[in-house]
Amino acid sequence: MVDFSKPSISKKEIKEVEKVIKTGWITTGNVTQQFANRIRKYVGAKYCLPVSSCTAALHLALLTAGVKEGDEIITTPYTFVATVNTILYLRAKPVFVDIKQNDFILDEDQIEKKITKKTRAVVVVHYAGFSADLAKIRRICKKHNLKLIEDAAHSFGTKYKNELIGKNSEFCCYSFYPTKNITTAEGGALVTNNKKVFEKARVLALHGITHQAWKRYKKEGSWKYDVADLGFKYNLTDINSALGLAQLDRISYFFKHREKLYRIYKKGLSKINNLEILSGNQHSKPFRHLFMVKIKSKKVSRNQFIQKMKRKGIVCSMHFIPVYRFSYYKKNMNIKKKHFPNSENAYKEAVSIPFGSDITSKEAEYVVEKIKQILK
Ligand SMILES: Cc1ncc(COP(=O)(O)O)c(C=O)c1O
Repeated sequence: MVDFSKPSISKKEIKEVEKVIKTGWITTGNVTQQFANRIRKYVGAKYCLPVSSCTAALHLALLTAGVKEGDEIITTPYTFVATVNTILYLRAKPVFVDIKQNDFILDEDQIEKKITKKTRAVVVVHYAGFSADLAKIRRICKKHNLKLIEDAAHSFGTKYKNELIGKNSEFCCYSFYPTKNITTAEGGALVTNNKKVFEKARVLALHGITHQAWKRYKKEGSWKYDVADLGFKYNLTDINSALGLAQLDRISYFFKHREKLYRIYKKGLSKINNLEILSGNQHSKPFRHLFMVKIKSKKVSRNQFIQKMKRKGIVCSMHFIPVYRFSYYKKNMNIKKKHFPNSENAYKEAVSIPFGSDITSKEAEYVVEKIKQILK
């Protein structure tokens, strides 16, 4: 059996988590503060707020970007629903731009056509470990006075040219879900270089309580606090952060291991008829997150391919079902799939094959062998 993805959890992670549990302080505290500092330093940005998920980070980013009811937010339909849901939480309107065939990232050249007087922000999704063309998007956002929010759930550790994603961002959101480049079980972070964004997001992430609310039970804190805004419960616990810190200690191993898997797949799959590897783009230096292939066979459909792989004990996945295909959005948004030919094509052909920091080289070689058999 080859799982789709497995997080790599060593004795180190287990020891660090156990240590936190034994201290008696298991919610947000000093360990989460350390985790924030480590991410901030790793990425090279000024501020980091660890939160309970990337969804929470996206919600906070939109709120602190000043998104309001009726605003239009340009984004991609080829993403996980969290990207779009967080826009809808604010009663703003997602305006979709189709993706490119080479990297499945929103087509930067189509953004300007969708800008209206109501457009407030662009939410770009860095995909599968590849980076969007940030220089192009930044130029457009600057010209039209739009906020740029980066959904980097897939791209912690990825570089745009020589710059780590998040380093120069105002709103960069990471996910530390178990399939991601590092994990805290559930978790995420908002990284920013804007002090005001950071301070507002920090208050909103914990009920709108002013100053470091968690300290109210500690010697250095006070029982007295104010609630200055209508906030949420988005804090990350020290247990999750201990896991994250141990993962950061092992990040160069994850990077190398994922590169190794990528090379095995690339070498094994590049000469197969009826299969194309998602090529990516020149401006990315990826921290490999997914391995996407496109099934081009007339005999074996994408769905049949996934079924056949499953029968051979290999679990594949799909990133993504375009958001407008789900019943909720069909009911509530008037989106015609004919306007998104590349997303539709990707949806029909793409498969995400097993990939992750604990997938072994042997498993990857087995996957290659079985794909060759299925598509021969
Ligand atoms: C592109 C993208 N954005 C956002 C999310 C949400 O991440 P989380 O589960 O940490 O909220 C995901 C999750 O898989 C994702 O793939």
